[in-house]
Amino acid sequence: MNMTLFRLCALSVLIAVVSSAGLKEEFTWTILNYIWPGTDRRVEERVSRRQIDNVFEDPNISVEAFVTRDAPEGVEFIPENNIPMGANVWKNKLFITVPRRQPGIPSTLNYVPLDSPNRHNVPLIPYPNLEINRYPGGRQNFLSVYRVAIDPCDRLWMADTGLIETPGNSSQVKASMIFVIDLNTDQVIHSYEIPTSFMRPASLLDSITIDVTENTCDDAYAYLPDLGGYSIIVYSLKQNRSWRVAHNYLFLENSQGDFNIHGHRFQWNDGVFNVELSSIKPTGFRDLYFHALAGSHLYRVSTRILRNETLATRSFHADDFQTPSCAKEVQERVTTCRAVSSSWRSSVQG
Ligand SMILES: *[C@@H]1O[C@H](CO)[C@@H](O)[C@H](O)[C@H]1NC(C)=O
Ligand SMILES: *[C@@H]1O[C@H](CO)[C@@H](O)[C@H](O)[C@H]1NC(C)=O
Ligand SMILES: *[C@@H]1O[C@H](CO)[C@@H](O)[C@H](O)[C@H]1NC(C)=O
Ligand SMILES: *[C@@H]1O[C@H](CO)[C@@H](O)[C@H](O)[C@H]1NC(C)=O
Repeated sequence: MNMTLFRLCALSVLIAVVSSAGLKEEFTWTILNYIWPGTDRRVEERVSRRQIDNVFEDPNISVEAFVTRDAPEGVEFIPENNIPMGANVWKNKLFITVPRRQPGIPSTLNYVPLDSPNRHNVPLIPYPNLEINRYPGGRQNFLSVYRVAIDPCDRLWMADTGLIETPGNSSQVKASMIFVIDLNTDQVIHSYEIPTSFMRPASLLDSITIDVTENTCDDAYAYLPDLGGYSIIVYSLKQNRSWRVAHNYLFLENSQGDFNIHGHRFQWNDGVFNVELSSIKPTGFRDLYFHALAGSHLYRVSTRILRNETLATRSFHADDFQTPSCAKEVQERVTTCRAVSSSWRSSVQG
């Protein structure tokens, strides 16, 4: 995205939830801030006592108490560079990701308590802690995350791009990785490096979608679209193995690359940013729906194909990938709002 547009988006960001009546505003930010040791003595005490969830209920601590540019030793913080990208809810936590697309991002995975009485400029709490979110850090540190997924087994999954995307200098600092966190214990319970042979020069694994039920927690599959490598990477938790699925439907549509967002005109070449799963069909498998960000057609493929490495990686796919005939209405809605990848989630599932 070009910088002017990016700054515009940064001026005012809101997180909204979909309700039958439309969008309901939940939280707003004009600038992001974080809670870390040293923010405020009273906050620090509660963090160390793990009572952070109700810190905002204390009438003696004003929101202003959190607003500081002073980061702990070794943490670079440039508030205006911090732009939220993903939002997911689990119990009382609203997870908010801040990918490292600029310098000065202290923490890429964070949350705010959903029931916070303050709704504006609520500071983010690094999750599960600031240490694991630090950069520079080791291979097991969280580097840059766009989207997380929360599964019915109380696990948070995330795709770490491994990229520092400073404008003009996008740099693969470590391998793209999958992390799985047990939300009940706040522990990283699994990590997996995507083989570099699956990656292309413009690869970016920005989202992750989990195929699992609460009865099959150990046999989960993760689907990670590669928006610059025009593929989907499938990961099997049970096999601890991944494979790369390629198909021309995963490319951008070259006639659909011109964007005009509120008068900002630019050409963009993103493939699939996010995928969505149907409910389980009588066959025992789901359908996976996708479309390129720079595209106007919706496609689907059965997870019966994706979950079987042999079928998923065969060179001729026959009719494995289809344009859903039943989805004319969805198709039209996708065309109208193709710049907002997630907007068709409800129409696909509904
Ligand atoms: C807030 O401060 C007042 C005055 O110091 C004190 O009596 C009260 O207990 C404090 N409230 C909380 C929730 O700590
Ligand atoms: C590019 O980014 C990497 C990772 O942040 C950094 O180590 C390197 O110094 C940067 N190079 C330039 C020319 O700024
Ligand atoms: C999963 O595979 C990765 C990479 O091949 C390996 O480093 C890791 O130890 C494996 N994890 C388990 C639980 O087998
Ligand atoms: C994958 O598909 C192939 C070809 O249809 C089949 O022979 C094989 O049994 C399948 N593997 C699994 C694990 O279902």
